Amino acid sequence: MKFFLDTANTEDIKRYAQLGLVDGVTTNPTLVSREGRDFETVIKEIAQIVSGPVSAEVTATKAEAMIEQARNEVKWADNIVVKIPMTEEGLKAVKVLSSEGIKTNVTLIFSVSQGLLAAKAGASYISPFLGRLDDIGGNGIQLVKDLRQVLDTYNFKTEIIAASVRGAQHVQEAALAGSDIATIPAAVFGKLWSHPLTDKGLASFASDWDKFQAQQK
Ligand code: G3P
Repeated sequence: MKFFLDTANTEDIKRYAQLGLVDGVTTNPTLVSREGRDFETVIKEIAQIVSGPVSAEVTATKAEAMIEQARNEVKWADNIVVKIPMTEEGLKAVKVLSSEGIKTNVTLIFSVSQGLLAAKAGASYISPFLGRLDDIGGNGIQLVKDLRQVLDTYNFKTEIIAASVRGAQHVQEAALAGSDIATIPAAVFGKLWSHPLTDKGLASFASDWDKFQAQQK
């Protein structure tokens, strides 16, 4: 399973990229706007920090304009994936872009039919939003399981990115559901290796070791 960071913060990306466990980055207009810096500059910096795919979203709403933005974004670096919203215009754009060999990540997926259409249009990635679906009483993990089944049944190469991840539980369940990737906010990523019993165990090992050392003197 691949781990992407869901952030546009280059300090967070540098910090966690050092672990060697970050396979890519996803951004969206909200995440980029939080940085208060120029979009192109931020994306170019991120694309230099990580060698894996970096999703940069289009802001246009009409297919032609999305395609134009996409063709421009992919000039910024070799590892840019163009994030396209799940709309009728977005599907048109994905179809054209995939025929040109431009990688796309179709975002804001909340149903199997949306995922299936995006895959059929040639999306490289689809991003079901787990947290936002759970927030309205849906089941984000069930959606990932269903998408996995449909993509496998029809042999699509499209990869599933579990997005809108809210905690370690989502990451674990997305892995069990067969998601290819989880895109994880930095705050959640930083907690994935923590467990209170690990901390408790380490503290007792250290204290037993100190006592033992004192006895040796
Ligand atoms: O980047 C897309 C998605 O992961 C956003 O998540 O937390 O804003 O629902 P969130």
